[in-house]
Amino acid sequence: MSEHFRVQGGARLVGEVDVVGAKNSVLKLMAAALLAEGTTTITNCPEILDVPLMADVLRSLGCEVTLDGRVVTITTPKELNHRADSEAMGKLRASVCVLGPLVGRCKRAVVALPGGDAIGSRPLDMHQNGLRKLGAHSEIEHGCVVAEAEGLHGAQIWLDFPSVGATENILMAAVLANGTTVIDNAAREPEIVDICVMLQQMGAKIEGAGTSTLTVHGVESLQPTEHRVIGDRIVGATWAFAAVMTRGDITVRGVNPHHLDLVLEKLRMAGAEVTTFEDGDGFRVVQRDRPQSVDFVTLPYPGFATDNQPFAIALSAVSEGTSMITENLFEARFRFIEEMVRLGADARTDGHHAVVRGVERLSSAPVWASDIRAGAGLVLAGLCADGATEVYEIFHIERGYPGFVENLRKLGATVDRVSA
Ligand code: UD1
Repeated sequence: MSEHFRVQGGARLVGEVDVVGAKNSVLKLMAAALLAEGTTTITNCPEILDVPLMADVLRSLGCEVTLDGRVVTITTPKELNHRADSEAMGKLRASVCVLGPLVGRCKRAVVALPGGDAIGSRPLDMHQNGLRKLGAHSEIEHGCVVAEAEGLHGAQIWLDFPSVGATENILMAAVLANGTTVIDNAAREPEIVDICVMLQQMGAKIEGAGTSTLTVHGVESLQPTEHRVIGDRIVGATWAFAAVMTRGDITVRGVNPHHLDLVLEKLRMAGAEVTTFEDGDGFRVVQRDRPQSVDFVTLPYPGFATDNQPFAIALSAVSEGTSMITENLFEARFRFIEEMVRLGADARTDGHHAVVRGVERLSSAPVWASDIRAGAGLVLAGLCADGATEVYEIFHIERGYPGFVENLRKLGATVDRVSA
């Protein structure tokens, strides 16, 4: 039975929300468990569909995986199956992160090309080129990335672009390579730091985590560990935008506020009062008047995350003035603007720029989510629309937001899950 959300506009969101582990970190950490024989435990996992899907991927490779609330336990055997082409592989983009660990452990991998969000073309050339530099042959064959190596050796690698996925895959292959690997123009996202911390706990020798040069001294083998996933900064940003858009007052716990430095600065420019907590656990965003328009440009971290772009569009749609939003990572991410226009947004795009003229009030309409963040952006817009907005294809949203409806209600929104 298909379900959708009915979002009543007009409420001011007030209260506190707890954010759990980052979707974009937990799946890579689960893949990292492939690198060590034995039992690895990952805590603070979000209870979202991608986690059991990733568990299925790991099981197909020979691991035993148990999920118990926010704790995932993975027991990795000595001999892994090197073929990751199960049905679960096609269902999530992050599944491609088993490529690096499999090449590292087995010296060969067959990994089905991944599925995931419809946000634009997502090539794997940088992943493959990196593995080639480490000594592997890699081709695309019959819908799979195939990589094989006699042995992996350290190398100097320059990425064309600080790709998150390519950095992770190359890193996870390099930790078990013979010699030293330097990845230049590496991604600096907090999720990259998270995986480096976990790999270091497992015995990997990595320098430069969080900078654009990662140096990896290969080791013979790694040991299993226990690791807590960092809080989800994109979910944290969603609540921060919700506070500003609804002229509300939201306290977010469970996220390092420094992972949102630029987001919070932009929201201050829009008129928000932002307090970051000194214990490093969260922040509070209060908005009293109509937000002012602000420009946004998406870039790799520490730039403004492309995943937050739909929230920037939604905020601009109700702000006073005109905003320009520039999308530099995924060309198809502007498609959701058509849905925003249904809600009465005055928005147009030209290539990778969008111009949004703020309106006083949006107008409820049926809209369709095309990916996780676009879906969440439509819900935020619905909160600022007259009447009840129906948001369809909510399975996208639920891939990224554990307890979304419950949290919205806790903050005072009127949101229902409706069965068709
Ligand atoms: C990850 C996140 C995604 C986020 C993105 C950018 C996960 C599961 N997903 O995706 O939510 O929006 O980072 O922060 O963690 N590219 C190439 N060739 C490659 C690899 C990437 O051209 O081999 C391009 C992509 O098309 C894109 C850009 O590089 O334009 C950035 O992609 P990348 O950082 O790799 O994103 P993902 O790791 O796929």
